[in-house]
Amino acid sequence: MKIANVVLSLACVISFSCTHAKIGYFWHITDFHYDPLYTPQGDTRRFCRRIDERSSSGHHQALGRFGDYSCDSSLELIESAAKYMRTRHSENVEFVLWTGDIIAAQYSGNEDDRYRAIRNMTELLSRTFSSHFVFPVLGHLDPSPSESLTNLWMHWLPLEALQTFKIGGYYTIEQSHSKLRIVALNTNLFGIREVNSVPAKAQWEWLDAVLDKAQANKEMVYIVGHAAPGTDLRPTYNALSVDANAKYLRMVRRHAKIIAGQFFGHLHADTFRVIYDKDQPVSWALLAPSVSPHHDPAGSSNPGLRLYKFDSDTGKVLDYTQYYLDLAAANRAGSGGAEWIAEYNLTQYYGLRDVSAESLHNLADKLRIGVPQETAMFNKYLRAYNVKQESTDNCDGACAHQHFCAITCLEHVAYRQCVEAAASALAASAQSSEVVTPMINMLSILVMILVILL
Ligand SMILES: *[C@@H]1O[C@H](CO)[C@@H](O)[C@H](O)[C@H]1NC(C)=O
Ligand SMILES: *[C@@H]1O[C@H](CO)[C@@H](O)[C@H](O)[C@H]1NC(C)=O
Ligand SMILES: [Zn+2]
Repeated sequence: MKIANVVLSLACVISFSCTHAKIGYFWHITDFHYDPLYTPQGDTRRFCRRIDERSSSGHHQALGRFGDYSCDSSLELIESAAKYMRTRHSENVEFVLWTGDIIAAQYSGNEDDRYRAIRNMTELLSRTFSSHFVFPVLGHLDPSPSESLTNLWMHWLPLEALQTFKIGGYYTIEQSHSKLRIVALNTNLFGIREVNSVPAKAQWEWLDAVLDKAQANKEMVYIVGHAAPGTDLRPTYNALSVDANAKYLRMVRRHAKIIAGQFFGHLHADTFRVIYDKDQPVSWALLAPSVSPHHDPAGSSNPGLRLYKFDSDTGKVLDYTQYYLDLAAANRAGSGGAEWIAEYNLTQYYGLRDVSAESLHNLADKLRIGVPQETAMFNKYLRAYNVKQESTDNCDGACAHQHFCAITCLEHVAYRQCVEAAASALAASAQSSEVVTPMINMLSILVMILVILL
């Protein structure tokens, strides 16, 4: 015990880290996809909504009260998440990042209905984090910025932030007690539909100016948004347009030194991105999985919540704990059965020395195909990606390589080239293990040519 203390204080003297590092925490929660019409009696082919009795033949009943993998979130699921976060409240939680897609796409086309549902979610979070600021950003399922939305969130945002939020849905938060600045983007303005709009242009200019000013003031910056740059195996509808994607990446490279982290949602998957400048890893983005369960042809996911640990003076991200709910088990347990638990801690799970572009680059390198001794690492990654939901269809070599390409090639052209290169490498290795087949193929082609000529 005593020796440990001596070693610890020696380490403090040498690194200065103990006197300087002030450990803080923040939550990152995303993609609630709250569906007020969810019912456990609902039909999974109808978004788990109640259907009228006469047409109930072949009814595919939802899994239960906490939700179904093929549907959006029930109120009970979101309430259980909020309750769990309250129990996990350490004194040191400093803020909450809430990255959009609050309401289910299919809920209602009526603006008032959607606004009321957003208000309910806002009230839930206000009760859950009664002494904290929640920083919301807009997803593609959220309404455009407006007076009413601004009023709804005004207790969380300072005046200056409210001004830009009201016109463009973006804002920046300056922390009074540290050199960390939060830059909240409206990534809807990076989409193909908005790319030439006035607010989209205004956001680019504003972002450039904010980053320049931060650099001049020696601040560190967190960039927070709904949709991340890049591509993925899971469909990234409503993501950044090709131009906006390239422009965003250029901006990140230019300011990489002051960007202490990029945080996104949207994908409903747990993954990460490494941004390179002349082949050097210079920045990273972490994508948190959704609170909503998820299902698509490529697999399904359990609901997730993420708590970051950081140095609240410098903004340096130290780690995160990923929490999740085993949805099937929670439904089997019934009322009060939602047991959110810690799934893993980033640095420990992947054996990272720290959370940096270089460490995440080294991790990505282990996820390449052709590194057979690292299959275990890839399987770990895939388990996290699906938030511990066992995938029924396995991810083959081509799929594994697509994951690697998504993590490391954020430019659209580079991603395609990466995937194609992998496909031909895989085809070549498949052929070299079967030498006879190409011979037969060539023979049959020769025969065909002869037949045609004759
Ligand atoms: C919002 O909350 C109120 C009060 O709890 C409830 O009556 C109403 O149904 C909720 N509406 C939506 C859309 O969630
Ligand atoms: C993650 O770290 C926290 C504290 O740092 C610890 O309480 C928890 O048990 C760890 N969880 C896992 C799954 O390793
Ligand atoms: Zn979403």
